[in-house]
Amino acid sequence: MTAPVATFRIIIGALALLWVAVSSHPVAAQQPTAVDPTANSVNEQQLLQQFKRIQGRGSIPDTKSYTIEQPAGRDWRHFHEVTLRWIGAIAILGVLGLLVIFYLLRGMVRIESGRSGQTILRFNAAERFVHWMTATCFIILALSGLNITFGKPLLLPLMSPEAFTAWSEWAKYAHNYLSFPFTLGVILIFFTWIAGNIPNRVDVEWFRRGGGMIGHDHPPAYRFNGGQKLIYWIVVLGGSAIAVSGYLLMFPFYGTDIQTMQNAEMAHGVIAMLFIAAMLGHIYIGTIGMEGAFEAMGEGTVDINWAKEHHELWLEHDARARSNQLRTQPAATPGE
Ligand code: HEM
Repeated sequence: MTAPVATFRIIIGALALLWVAVSSHPVAAQQPTAVDPTANSVNEQQLLQQFKRIQGRGSIPDTKSYTIEQPAGRDWRHFHEVTLRWIGAIAILGVLGLLVIFYLLRGMVRIESGRSGQTILRFNAAERFVHWMTATCFIILALSGLNITFGKPLLLPLMSPEAFTAWSEWAKYAHNYLSFPFTLGVILIFFTWIAGNIPNRVDVEWFRRGGGMIGHDHPPAYRFNGGQKLIYWIVVLGGSAIAVSGYLLMFPFYGTDIQTMQNAEMAHGVIAMLFIAAMLGHIYIGTIGMEGAFEAMGEGTVDINWAKEHHELWLEHDARARSNQLRTQPAATPGE
């Protein structure tokens, strides 16, 4: 009789143990208030819901570093890893696609009356230096910035982790240090060309006629047409906004809290994507989009016929200024 009793006791004991094992886990999960943050089995999500932030203890003076996760941080991570990538891909690839279609349909805008062989100065050496310094910094800032947004999904699978780390480190140094000449360039651009970039009624007419990009129209313009003024203000305002948000990121927590830092990074990223998209349009017109445009910033001069077709009012104004100068000069230089 003792053997069946012993077997019965073992079965009852095993069932009791099983019940304790099965029932104890769900009870803890259903009662988040009973979370023991130091328990090994507690998961991150549970802690975040319970405490709104996951915080540890530390011994360094920077108490911010004790916070490991906080709810807005997750929103920011989603923005950085998903939303910003979509904004960037749509803006940059969208503009690239439109430019390719436009080029295939319209081709290069030619100098319709052909080249005259006579040239006129459009940008002096100082102006060209400011333009190319800012443009070079912009391209490197754009590539090194895009690496922060897209490098991990696009480049890391193509290279070793060590190579990606080394490239990203150099890209980050470039991004930090070239921000200074870029900012200087934006300030110099503002002062150098502000006089020719105040919007006026001629620009309204220029936009109404599509800038002469379609068909054989040549809407008149002074030194800068409506499209160029738009680019100027995108550079000045976009450049200022990207610099301010960038310096907030580069010098973290100087007068900013975590929320402001996150907003600055989101603003910086979105402005960057739109800025890059806009500059693609500018680079297109300055290179393959329009005959004779590159020389203006390359050599500094343009063909008289190019000037007549695209900046008629500037050419007239320039010619008037020259003849006035000549009229006042002969008496002063009789020997010439
Ligand atoms: C004064 C100029 C600028 C400064 C001070 C600056 C600074 C910074 C800093 C500190 C970061 C954060 C880097 C990190 O998370 O480790 C950043 C990110 C970034 N920057 Fe700039 N930057 C400037 C100009 C530009 C320009 C001109 C562009 C593009 C045209 C650009 C594009 C980006 C992009 C795409 C990111 C990554 C955003 C993200 O994925 O969250 N930046 N910048």
